[in-house]
Formats: sequence, C-alpha cells, structure tokens
Amino acid sequence: MSFITLIQGASRGIGLQFCRSLLARDPGAVVIATCRNPDGATDLKELQSKESNRLHVCKLDITNEQQIVSTSEFVKENFGKLDLLINSAGMLHPSGKGETSLRDVSMEALTLTMQTNTFGPLLMGKYFGPFLTKGSGSVGVQSSDPKQRHTAVLVNMSAKVGSITDNGLGGWYSYRMSKSALNMATKNLSIELGRGKNKVICVSLHPGTVDTDLSRPYHKNVPNLFSTEYSVNCLLSVIDSLTVADTGKFLTYDRTVMAY
Ligand SMILES: NC(=O)c1ccc[n+]([C@@H]2O[C@H](COP(=O)([O-])OP(=O)(O)OC[C@H]3O[C@@H](n4cnc5c(N)ncnc54)[C@H](OP(=O)(O)O)[C@@H]3O)[C@@H](O)[C@H]2O)c1
Repeated sequence: MSFITLIQGASRGIGLQFCRSLLARDPGAVVIATCRNPDGATDLKELQSKESNRLHVCKLDITNEQQIVSTSEFVKENFGKLDLLINSAGMLHPSGKGETSLRDVSMEALTLTMQTNTFGPLLMGKYFGPFLTKGSGSVGVQSSDPKQRHTAVLVNMSAKVGSITDNGLGGWYSYRMSKSALNMATKNLSIELGRGKNKVICVSLHPGTVDTDLSRPYHKNVPNLFSTEYSVNCLLSVIDSLTVADTGKFLTYDRTVMAY
C-alpha cells in the first residue's frame, strides 16, 4: 500500500525538499505537491519529470478557500486518503523583512501574512481532515502499540519565533502573531481530529533556521544555518517518531518540546 503525503507549498525551500526526501527514501511513496504557480515552479517541474508516476502537482494558492476545496475533491477522487499532510507554505512579511517596530505595521501586511501562515493551514485541516483517517503505517508513525499504528499525521510548519514564552526581542509582529495563532490552530485541530476511532496526530514543527529565500535577509547573523536536506531529514525523523501522545505539541527539528 502506498504512503501518500500532501505537501502544501512545495515550489521552493522546505516544501520542495520534503517532496525530494520523501520520494528518495521510500519507493512506495506517493506525493501530492501543491503550489500557487505550477508553471513557474521550475525545480518542482524538474522533479516531476523524473517521478511522473509518484509526484502529482496541483495548483493551490493557500489564501483561496475555493482552491482548497477543489484540491480536496481532487485528492478524494484520486487517492481516497492521506497518510501525511504538511502545511509548509509561509511568508515572513510581504516586504520580505519582518517589522522592526510598530511604525512598520500595516493592516494589509498583517492580513496577507495571517491568511497565508494561519488561515490557509487551518482550512486545509477542515477540508482534508476527513481523508486523514487511515494512515497505512507502511512508513513513519512508529509505535509499539498496534492501536496507534494506523494513525495519520497533520504537520503545520511553525517557527520558534511563534512561541510567546520564547519572545524576548519583540518585532516581526505579522510573522510572530501568525505562527503563534497557527500553534493555537494546531492545538485545536489536535483536539477535534483526535476524537473518535480514527485519530489524527496534529503537531507544529520548527525546522531550525534553514537556508531558504524566507530567511535569506538574515543569513549573515546565523552561525548554524541548516541546509534544507538536513532540516527535512531531522523533521522526518521527528514525524516518524510521533504517537498519539504527541498530538497538539510544538516540537523543534531535534524533538525538543517548545513552550507555546
Ligand atoms: N527558512 C527558515 O529558516 C524557517 C524557519 C522557521 C520556520 N520556517 C517555516 O517553514 C515553512 C517553509 O519556509 P521556507 O523557508 O521553505 O520558505 P521559502 O523558501 O520562502 O518558501 C515559501 C513557500 O511558500 C509558498 N507560498 C507563499 N505564499 C503562498 C500562497 N499564498 N499560496 C501557496 N504557496 C505560498 C511559496 O510559493 P511561491 O514559490 O509561489 O512563492 C514557497 O513555496 C514556512 O511556513 C516558514 O514560516 C522557515
């Protein structure tokens, strides 16, 4: 039985690397990769040309609820179930740099950042939750308890700066607020999708500071910048180790539990 993963936000960065790593490590893996502009996603297109039987690309702008609905209908018709859903799309700020003080805060930037980083991932939970009920258990989600083995996983890519407890510096209003609220969405999803027979494990993950376009303006200040390969390798180890006891948690790439 195939292990089916949907990566939301797969054109670049961490999302693209999830596609590469999942396909490379498991010949039975099937990946549905979504992005808002498939024609412009050069690296994803190249990967698809090599993996046309196992990699399916769908157009999805995460701020567009109708496109989320259409994608969920496509997945339902063609695959019937998902083992793993990763919400990876994200933005720091429309300008590419986080606000340094209140004078930089605007309604427009706050709204777009929240729609992309928070509201979209929550709506993915709404429309895809019903298919996240039958993990095949062929890869990942290890557990010694057979009752826990057939458990699907929903991952929201969060960020350490979304931790209210850890916030000692301030700034980055839009991004911090969007990730903090995303963590609340993860917690709520873990409760609602954790009820009943088919439980879904829902977690927020922090990938470390990773060498991607999102973090590029700050690379010179980062002593330990992770490659996407390294970060995703760590994140997949965390995902593989999850059990229902972990649902609702905010975990880092090395499985440290972050305070909300
Ligand atoms: N890099 C880090 O150091 C770091 C640290 C902590 C957390 N994170 C989180 O990790 C996740 C991945 O970040 P990254 O570093 O891989 O960023 P990235 O390289 O800048 O990639 C961002 C991705 O989000 C997509 N995206 C943005 N707006 C979208 C929309 N409206 N609809 C669909 N897709 C959209 C982009 O698609 P387009 O190509 O169409 O623009 C792109 O695929 C994010 O949630 C980020 O907050 C990253």
